[in-house]
Amino acid sequence: MASYKLSINGSTHAVEADPKMPLLWVLRDLLNLTGTKYGCGMAQCGACTVHLNGNAIRSCSMPVSAVGNQKITTIEGLSTDNSHAVQQAWIAEQVPQCGYCQTGQIMSAVALLKRNPNPTDRDIDMAMQGNLCRCGTYPRIRKAIHKAAT
Ligand code: FES
Repeated sequence: MASYKLSINGSTHAVEADPKMPLLWVLRDLLNLTGTKYGCGMAQCGACTVHLNGNAIRSCSMPVSAVGNQKITTIEGLSTDNSHAVQQAWIAEQVPQCGYCQTGQIMSAVALLKRNPNPTDRDIDMAMQGNLCRCGTYPRIRKAIHKAAT
């Protein structure tokens, strides 16, 4: 076990964890930030996407010891009332079906719009291809990203 001070959603959180523990489990099991989901655990599905210094990363494959002083943002850090523009677009376009993958989808979409405020369909498809949705909500995800970009 080791001690870590993590910067998450603008606050510092002290945790004791095995250095190899994935950030996903630190968020979910130690800090009760359960908006970030476990899908595959192998960096394949995108359900566990959070931001590290504003970039979308897979928290299931990042050991807590690799985080250091970098700033982590989870879905809980976007807003506490779904007021973020991307969340609003997701609601307006009724994107989710089962909803399980959607926090990861939203985190990837926010990171995309930060680096590319007016993405084309192709830009969206390229940026979102690592976030899998078993319900096939991809057309609505694309629409919602365009809506958030306007
Ligand atoms: Fe991390 Fe699937 S749970 S990519």
